[in-house]
Amino acid sequence: MKVPLHIAVTGAAGQISYSLLFRLAAGHSFGKDQPIVLHLLEVPSAMPALEGVVMELNDCASPIVRSIIMTDDPFVAFKNIDHAFLIGARPRTLGMARKDLLKVNAEIFSTQGKALNAVANRNVKVLVTGNPANTNALIALKNAPDLSPANFSSMSRLDHNRAISQLAEKCGVLTTDIKNMTVWGNHSGTQYPDIHYATVRGQDALSLVDDNWFVNNFIPTVQERGEAVIKARGQSSAGSAANAALDQMRAWALGTPDNDWVSMGVLSDGSYDIEKGLMYSFPVTVEDGEIQIVQGLNINEFSRHRMRVTEDELKQERDAVKHLF
Ligand code: NAD
Ligand code: LMR
Repeated sequence: MKVPLHIAVTGAAGQISYSLLFRLAAGHSFGKDQPIVLHLLEVPSAMPALEGVVMELNDCASPIVRSIIMTDDPFVAFKNIDHAFLIGARPRTLGMARKDLLKVNAEIFSTQGKALNAVANRNVKVLVTGNPANTNALIALKNAPDLSPANFSSMSRLDHNRAISQLAEKCGVLTTDIKNMTVWGNHSGTQYPDIHYATVRGQDALSLVDDNWFVNNFIPTVQERGEAVIKARGQSSAGSAANAALDQMRAWALGTPDNDWVSMGVLSDGSYDIEKGLMYSFPVTVEDGEIQIVQGLNINEFSRHRMRVTEDELKQERDAVKHLF
Protein backbone atom coordinates (compact mmCIF):
# COMPACT_ATOMS: atom_id res chain seq x y z
CA MET A 1 0.00 0.00 0.00
CA LYS A 2 1.49 3.35 -1.06
CA VAL A 3 1.89 6.17 1.47
CA PRO A 4 -0.62 8.99 0.70
CA LEU A 5 0.72 12.11 -1.00
CA HIS A 6 -0.40 15.42 0.46
CA ILE A 7 -1.57 17.78 -2.29
CA ALA A 8 -2.43 21.45 -1.79
CA VAL A 9 -4.73 23.28 -4.20
CA THR A 10 -5.24 27.02 -3.75
CA GLY A 11 -8.24 28.86 -5.14
CA ALA A 12 -10.00 25.56 -4.61
CA ALA A 13 -13.49 27.01 -5.11
CA GLY A 14 -12.55 28.79 -8.35
CA GLN A 15 -13.27 27.75 -11.91
CA ILE A 16 -9.93 26.09 -12.73
CA SER A 17 -10.04 24.07 -9.53
CA TYR A 18 -13.57 22.95 -10.34
CA SER A 19 -12.14 21.31 -13.46
CA LEU A 20 -8.99 20.07 -11.75
CA LEU A 21 -10.05 18.55 -8.44
CA PHE A 22 -12.25 15.79 -9.82
CA ARG A 23 -9.55 14.58 -12.21
CA LEU A 24 -7.00 14.76 -9.42
CA ALA A 25 -9.36 12.58 -7.36
CA ALA A 26 -9.48 10.18 -10.31
CA GLY A 27 -5.69 9.78 -10.26
CA HIS A 28 -4.62 11.87 -13.25
CA SER A 29 -1.39 13.38 -11.94
CA PHE A 30 -0.06 10.74 -9.57
CA GLY A 31 -1.64 7.49 -10.70
CA LYS A 32 -4.86 5.62 -10.05
CA ASP A 33 -3.25 3.58 -7.25
CA GLN A 34 -1.68 6.55 -5.43
CA PRO A 35 -3.67 7.63 -2.35
CA ILE A 36 -3.89 11.39 -1.81
CA VAL A 37 -4.87 13.80 0.95
CA LEU A 38 -6.25 17.08 -0.41
CA HIS A 39 -5.39 20.36 1.33
CA LEU A 40 -7.77 22.97 -0.09
CA LEU A 41 -7.09 26.68 0.46
CA GLU A 42 -9.53 29.51 -0.16
CA VAL A 43 -10.20 33.05 1.04
CA PRO A 44 -12.70 33.31 3.94
CA SER A 45 -15.54 34.60 1.74
CA ALA A 46 -15.29 31.54 -0.52
CA MET A 47 -15.41 28.93 2.26
CA PRO A 48 -19.17 28.24 1.82
CA ALA A 49 -18.62 27.56 -1.90
CA LEU A 50 -15.64 25.38 -1.04
CA GLU A 51 -17.84 23.33 1.29
CA GLY A 52 -20.06 22.60 -1.71
CA VAL A 53 -17.06 21.51 -3.78
CA VAL A 54 -15.96 19.19 -0.99
CA MET A 55 -19.46 17.70 -0.76
CA GLU A 56 -19.20 16.91 -4.47
CA LEU A 57 -15.71 15.45 -4.08
CA ASN A 58 -17.01 13.22 -1.32
CA ASP A 59 -19.91 12.22 -3.53
CA CYS A 60 -17.44 10.83 -6.08
CA ALA A 61 -16.49 8.10 -3.56
CA SER A 62 -12.96 8.24 -4.97
CA PRO A 63 -10.93 5.18 -4.02
CA ILE A 64 -7.75 7.29 -3.69
CA VAL A 65 -8.86 10.38 -1.74
CA ARG A 66 -8.08 9.54 1.89
CA SER A 67 -9.18 12.84 3.43
CA ILE A 68 -9.80 16.49 2.63
CA ILE A 69 -8.64 19.50 4.64
CA MET A 70 -10.38 22.85 4.04
CA THR A 71 -8.81 26.05 5.31
CA ASP A 72 -8.31 29.77 4.72
CA ASP A 73 -4.86 29.70 6.35
CA PRO A 74 -1.88 28.92 4.06
CA PHE A 75 0.18 27.77 7.06
CA VAL A 76 -2.43 25.06 7.66
CA ALA A 77 -2.94 24.28 3.98
CA PHE A 78 0.76 23.77 3.24
CA LYS A 79 1.66 21.76 6.36
CA ASN A 80 3.75 18.74 5.25
CA ILE A 81 2.55 18.88 1.66
CA ASP A 82 4.35 17.06 -1.16
CA HIS A 83 2.82 19.00 -4.08
CA ALA A 84 1.12 22.37 -4.47
CA PHE A 85 -1.05 23.69 -7.26
CA LEU A 86 -1.02 27.47 -6.69
CA ILE A 87 -4.07 28.50 -8.69
CA GLY A 88 -5.85 30.98 -6.41
CA ALA A 89 -5.46 34.47 -7.87
CA ARG A 90 -7.57 36.92 -9.78
CA PRO A 91 -8.02 36.24 -13.53
CA ARG A 92 -7.76 39.02 -16.13
CA THR A 93 -10.72 40.35 -18.05
CA LEU A 94 -10.90 41.47 -21.67
CA GLY A 95 -8.42 44.21 -22.55
CA MET A 96 -6.01 43.42 -19.69
CA ALA A 97 -2.55 41.90 -20.11
CA ARG A 98 -1.66 39.16 -17.63
CA LYS A 99 1.07 41.36 -16.14
CA ASP A 100 -1.63 43.93 -15.21
CA LEU A 101 -2.62 41.35 -12.57
CA LEU A 102 0.68 41.76 -10.71
CA LYS A 103 -0.74 44.63 -8.65
CA VAL A 104 -3.57 42.48 -7.26
CA ASN A 105 -1.96 39.04 -7.23
CA ALA A 106 1.72 39.48 -6.34
CA GLU A 107 1.22 39.64 -2.58
CA ILE A 108 -0.68 36.36 -2.54
CA PHE A 109 2.51 34.66 -3.69
CA SER A 110 4.81 36.34 -1.20
CA THR A 111 2.52 35.22 1.64
CA GLN A 112 2.24 31.72 0.23
CA GLY A 113 5.99 31.49 -0.40
CA LYS A 114 6.59 32.26 3.29
CA ALA A 115 4.07 29.64 4.35
CA LEU A 116 5.63 27.01 2.07
CA ASN A 117 9.03 27.89 3.46
CA ALA A 118 7.82 27.40 7.00
CA VAL A 119 5.71 24.25 6.84
CA ALA A 120 5.90 22.34 3.53
CA ASN A 121 7.81 19.10 2.99
CA ARG A 122 11.37 20.05 1.92
CA ASN A 123 10.86 18.17 -1.39
CA VAL A 124 7.60 19.93 -2.18
CA LYS A 125 6.90 20.52 -5.89
CA VAL A 126 5.16 23.87 -6.33
CA LEU A 127 3.44 24.60 -9.64
CA VAL A 128 2.24 28.20 -10.09
CA THR A 129 -0.75 28.75 -12.37
CA GLY A 130 -2.15 32.06 -11.02
CA ASN A 131 -1.22 34.89 -13.38
CA PRO A 132 1.21 36.28 -14.24
CA ALA A 133 2.44 32.76 -13.54
CA ASN A 134 6.19 33.13 -14.18
CA THR A 135 6.68 36.17 -12.00
CA ASN A 136 4.31 34.91 -9.29
CA ALA A 137 6.39 31.73 -9.15
CA LEU A 138 9.52 33.85 -8.80
CA ILE A 139 7.92 35.78 -5.92
CA ALA A 140 6.96 32.55 -4.15
CA LEU A 141 10.46 31.12 -4.64
CA LYS A 142 12.15 34.28 -3.32
CA ASN A 143 10.00 34.14 -0.20
CA ALA A 144 11.00 30.54 0.47
CA PRO A 145 14.76 30.79 0.97
CA ASP A 146 14.96 27.46 2.84
CA LEU A 147 13.53 25.56 -0.11
CA SER A 148 15.52 24.81 -3.24
CA PRO A 149 14.60 26.95 -6.29
CA ALA A 150 14.19 23.61 -8.05
CA ASN A 151 11.02 23.13 -5.98
CA PHE A 152 9.25 25.83 -8.04
CA SER A 153 7.91 25.80 -11.55
CA SER A 154 5.52 28.06 -13.47
CA MET A 155 2.93 26.73 -15.86
CA SER A 156 3.88 26.63 -19.54
CA ARG A 157 2.01 23.47 -20.32
CA LEU A 158 -1.12 25.21 -21.56
CA ASP A 159 0.96 27.04 -24.19
CA HIS A 160 2.84 23.81 -24.98
CA ASN A 161 -0.43 21.89 -25.46
CA ARG A 162 -1.91 24.72 -27.54
CA ALA A 163 1.16 24.67 -29.78
CA ILE A 164 0.96 20.88 -30.25
CA SER A 165 -2.72 21.11 -31.06
CA GLN A 166 -2.21 23.85 -33.70
CA LEU A 167 0.61 21.96 -35.41
CA ALA A 168 -1.27 18.65 -35.34
CA GLU A 169 -4.30 20.27 -36.93
CA LYS A 170 -2.18 21.96 -39.62
CA CYS A 171 -0.44 18.67 -40.51
CA GLY A 172 -3.58 16.52 -40.23
CA VAL A 173 -2.01 14.20 -37.63
CA LEU A 174 -2.73 13.15 -34.07
CA THR A 175 -1.33 15.26 -31.23
CA THR A 176 0.64 12.17 -30.19
CA ASP A 177 2.47 12.30 -33.53
CA ILE A 178 4.13 15.59 -32.47
CA LYS A 179 7.34 15.46 -30.42
CA ASN A 180 9.77 18.03 -29.03
CA MET A 181 7.54 21.09 -29.07
CA THR A 182 9.13 24.05 -27.28
CA VAL A 183 7.75 27.17 -25.63
CA TRP A 184 10.34 29.73 -24.56
CA GLY A 185 9.91 32.53 -22.03
CA ASN A 186 6.90 34.12 -20.43
CA HIS A 187 3.29 32.90 -20.26
CA SER A 188 2.21 36.06 -22.04
CA GLY A 189 1.82 37.60 -25.47
CA THR A 190 5.63 37.63 -25.88
CA GLN A 191 6.09 33.88 -25.40
CA TYR A 192 7.86 32.12 -28.25
CA PRO A 193 6.30 28.83 -29.32
CA ASP A 194 9.06 27.27 -31.40
CA ILE A 195 8.80 24.39 -33.87
CA HIS A 196 12.46 24.35 -34.98
CA TYR A 197 13.10 21.07 -33.11
CA ALA A 198 9.57 19.66 -33.34
CA THR A 199 8.92 16.53 -35.33
CA VAL A 200 5.73 15.23 -36.92
CA ARG A 201 5.78 11.43 -37.21
CA GLY A 202 9.57 11.72 -37.12
CA GLN A 203 9.86 14.39 -39.85
CA ASP A 204 11.07 17.93 -39.13
CA ALA A 205 8.01 20.09 -38.58
CA LEU A 206 9.50 23.01 -40.48
CA SER A 207 9.83 20.90 -43.61
CA LEU A 208 6.07 20.28 -43.54
CA VAL A 209 4.73 23.82 -43.03
CA ASP A 210 5.69 27.07 -44.72
CA ASP A 211 7.54 29.82 -42.86
CA ASN A 212 4.69 32.24 -43.38
CA TRP A 213 2.31 29.96 -41.47
CA PHE A 214 4.85 29.48 -38.69
CA VAL A 215 5.55 33.22 -38.26
CA ASN A 216 2.21 34.84 -39.05
CA ASN A 217 -0.30 32.24 -38.00
CA PHE A 218 1.09 29.65 -35.58
CA ILE A 219 3.08 31.97 -33.29
CA PRO A 220 0.37 34.65 -32.82
CA THR A 221 -2.40 32.06 -32.46
CA VAL A 222 -0.59 30.39 -29.55
CA GLN A 223 0.51 33.71 -28.04
CA GLU A 224 -3.03 35.13 -28.11
CA ARG A 225 -5.03 32.02 -27.39
CA GLY A 226 -5.82 33.03 -23.82
CA GLU A 227 -7.36 36.28 -24.99
CA ALA A 228 -9.30 34.52 -27.75
CA VAL A 229 -10.85 32.21 -25.12
CA ILE A 230 -11.76 35.18 -22.91
CA LYS A 231 -13.43 36.91 -25.91
CA ALA A 232 -15.42 33.81 -26.74
CA ARG A 233 -16.35 32.63 -23.23
CA GLY A 234 -16.42 35.87 -21.30
CA GLN A 235 -14.11 34.14 -18.80
CA SER A 236 -10.56 32.90 -18.97
CA SER A 237 -9.71 29.32 -19.85
CA ALA A 238 -10.49 26.83 -17.11
CA GLY A 239 -10.87 23.30 -18.49
CA SER A 240 -7.73 23.52 -20.60
CA ALA A 241 -5.84 25.30 -17.81
CA ALA A 242 -6.77 22.58 -15.31
CA ASN A 243 -5.75 19.93 -17.83
CA ALA A 244 -2.40 21.65 -18.34
CA ALA A 245 -1.73 21.93 -14.60
CA LEU A 246 -2.49 18.23 -14.17
CA ASP A 247 -0.27 17.35 -17.14
CA GLN A 248 2.63 19.49 -15.92
CA MET A 249 2.47 18.05 -12.40
CA ARG A 250 2.21 14.53 -13.80
CA ALA A 251 5.36 15.04 -15.89
CA TRP A 252 7.13 16.46 -12.83
CA ALA A 253 6.04 13.61 -10.56
CA LEU A 254 6.27 10.67 -12.96
CA GLY A 255 8.82 11.85 -15.56
CA THR A 256 8.89 12.56 -19.30
CA PRO A 257 9.12 9.86 -22.00
CA ASP A 258 12.57 8.99 -23.42
CA ASN A 259 11.79 10.34 -26.90
CA ASP A 260 10.20 13.65 -25.94
CA TRP A 261 10.40 16.74 -23.77
CA VAL A 262 7.92 19.27 -22.34
CA SER A 263 8.01 23.01 -21.66
CA MET A 264 8.11 24.26 -18.06
CA GLY A 265 8.86 27.56 -16.42
CA VAL A 266 11.98 27.05 -14.27
CA LEU A 267 14.53 29.34 -12.70
CA SER A 268 17.04 30.18 -15.41
CA ASP A 269 20.57 28.92 -14.72
CA GLY A 270 21.91 30.93 -17.67
CA SER A 271 21.16 28.21 -20.24
CA TYR A 272 20.79 29.62 -23.76
CA ASP A 273 22.18 32.90 -22.44
CA ILE A 274 18.91 33.71 -20.66
CA GLU A 275 19.59 35.87 -17.62
CA LYS A 276 20.05 33.79 -14.47
CA GLY A 277 17.30 34.12 -11.89
CA LEU A 278 14.33 34.67 -14.22
CA MET A 279 11.47 32.18 -14.20
CA TYR A 280 11.62 31.31 -17.90
CA SER A 281 10.00 28.54 -19.91
CA PHE A 282 12.51 26.09 -21.37
CA PRO A 283 12.29 22.68 -22.98
CA VAL A 284 12.91 20.21 -20.16
CA THR A 285 13.07 16.54 -19.34
CA VAL A 286 12.23 15.08 -15.95
CA GLU A 287 13.67 11.98 -14.30
CA ASP A 288 13.10 10.95 -10.67
CA GLY A 289 11.38 14.28 -10.01
CA GLU A 290 14.38 16.32 -11.22
CA ILE A 291 13.86 18.82 -14.01
CA GLN A 292 16.73 19.23 -16.50
CA ILE A 293 16.81 21.95 -19.15
CA VAL A 294 17.43 20.38 -22.57
CA GLN A 295 20.90 21.49 -23.65
CA GLY A 296 22.64 21.96 -26.97
CA LEU A 297 19.80 23.21 -29.18
CA ASN A 298 20.91 25.39 -32.05
CA ILE A 299 19.37 28.88 -31.79
CA ASN A 300 19.15 30.88 -35.02
CA GLU A 301 18.84 34.68 -35.31
CA PHE A 302 15.05 34.60 -35.59
CA SER A 303 14.70 32.52 -32.44
CA ARG A 304 17.31 34.52 -30.53
CA HIS A 305 15.36 37.73 -31.14
CA ARG A 306 12.08 36.16 -29.98
CA MET A 307 13.75 34.68 -26.90
CA ARG A 308 15.19 38.09 -25.97
CA VAL A 309 11.86 39.90 -26.32
CA THR A 310 10.16 37.59 -23.86
CA GLU A 311 13.23 37.63 -21.57
CA ASP A 312 13.09 41.46 -21.53
CA GLU A 313 9.44 41.36 -20.49
CA LEU A 314 10.27 38.99 -17.64
CA LYS A 315 13.04 41.34 -16.47
CA GLN A 316 10.54 44.21 -16.37
CA GLU A 317 8.03 42.12 -14.40
CA ARG A 318 10.75 41.03 -11.98
CA ASP A 319 11.90 44.62 -11.46
CA ALA A 320 8.31 45.70 -10.74
CA VAL A 321 8.00 43.27 -7.81
CA LYS A 322 11.54 43.38 -6.38
CA HIS A 323 10.18 44.93 -3.17
CA LEU A 324 8.51 41.58 -2.45
CA PHE A 325 11.73 39.54 -2.64
P1 NAD B 1 -11.41 32.21 -10.31
O1 NAD B 1 -11.65 33.63 -10.00
O2 NAD B 1 -12.52 31.38 -10.87
O3 NAD B 1 -10.86 31.45 -9.03
C1 NAD B 1 -9.82 31.95 -8.27
C2 NAD B 1 -10.07 31.51 -6.85
O4 NAD B 1 -8.93 31.87 -6.10
C3 NAD B 1 -11.29 32.19 -6.22
O5 NAD B 1 -12.15 31.20 -5.69
C4 NAD B 1 -10.67 33.05 -5.11
O6 NAD B 1 -11.50 33.13 -3.96
C5 NAD B 1 -9.38 32.28 -4.83
N1 NAD B 1 -8.36 33.07 -4.18
C6 NAD B 1 -8.05 34.38 -4.35
N2 NAD B 1 -7.06 34.74 -3.54
C7 NAD B 1 -6.69 33.65 -2.84
C8 NAD B 1 -5.73 33.39 -1.85
N3 NAD B 1 -4.95 34.35 -1.37
N4 NAD B 1 -5.64 32.14 -1.36
C9 NAD B 1 -6.44 31.16 -1.80
N5 NAD B 1 -7.40 31.34 -2.75
C10 NAD B 1 -7.51 32.57 -3.26
O7 NAD B 1 -10.14 32.17 -11.30
P2 NAD B 1 -9.64 30.97 -12.23
O8 NAD B 1 -10.29 31.07 -13.54
O9 NAD B 1 -9.70 29.71 -11.47
O10 NAD B 1 -8.11 31.43 -12.46
C11 NAD B 1 -7.19 31.44 -11.41
C12 NAD B 1 -5.87 32.05 -11.88
O11 NAD B 1 -5.28 31.22 -12.88
C13 NAD B 1 -6.00 33.43 -12.53
O12 NAD B 1 -4.93 34.26 -12.12
C14 NAD B 1 -5.89 33.12 -14.02
O13 NAD B 1 -5.46 34.25 -14.76
C15 NAD B 1 -4.86 32.04 -13.98
N6 NAD B 1 -4.75 31.21 -15.18
C16 NAD B 1 -3.48 30.84 -15.54
C17 NAD B 1 -3.29 30.04 -16.64
C18 NAD B 1 -1.89 29.65 -17.04
O14 NAD B 1 -1.70 29.03 -18.10
N7 NAD B 1 -0.88 29.96 -16.26
C19 NAD B 1 -4.38 29.59 -17.38
C20 NAD B 1 -5.66 29.99 -16.99
C21 NAD B 1 -5.82 30.81 -15.88
C1 LMR C 1 -4.66 31.53 -20.59
O1 LMR C 1 -3.63 31.54 -21.23
O2 LMR C 1 -5.73 31.05 -21.04
C2 LMR C 1 -4.67 32.08 -19.19
O3 LMR C 1 -3.43 32.61 -18.85
C3 LMR C 1 -5.78 33.03 -18.94
C4 LMR C 1 -5.54 34.37 -19.61
O4 LMR C 1 -5.66 35.38 -18.92
O5 LMR C 1 -5.27 34.40 -20.81
